[in-house]
Amino acid sequence: MADLLPVQVRQPGDSLPRVDTRIVTAIAVDEDGRRHTVRALAGQSLFRALVNAGLRLHLSHQLDTSCYGYVCRVSISDEWRARIPEPTEDELHVLKHHFTPPDFDPSIRCSCKIKLSDKINGIVVALVPEKCWDFT
Ligand code: FES
Repeated sequence: MADLLPVQVRQPGDSLPRVDTRIVTAIAVDEDGRRHTVRALAGQSLFRALVNAGLRLHLSHQLDTSCYGYVCRVSISDEWRARIPEPTEDELHVLKHHFTPPDFDPSIRCSCKIKLSDKINGIVVALVPEKCWDFT
């Protein structure tokens, strides 16, 4: 399903909310240790923000059976993970399916399932190297 923002119906005379009140920031640390400041609108997924910043390739799917989190995985510290919802069963299935012990790491999350908000403004994530399909 596409990462769409909710539609808001305006009435005549309603003032428009200022966009700058909805901007949140995330810090993405790439595989070489470089820090990238990523700005996005609250309500967008972290993955969408990473794609828009050119840090991840665009894919038109999320948590479908052909993905398994190869492209959207990020590592998040305990401190920041405590501020986001626990992974859903679907997300855990995706992560555990291909990352069984000892590779499974609870700090790894699917960024497509993390909604940006004021609550996690400034979140720091480490980009996990993208993997290509392994059909062996
Ligand atoms: S984009 Fe496929 S699991 Fe996140």
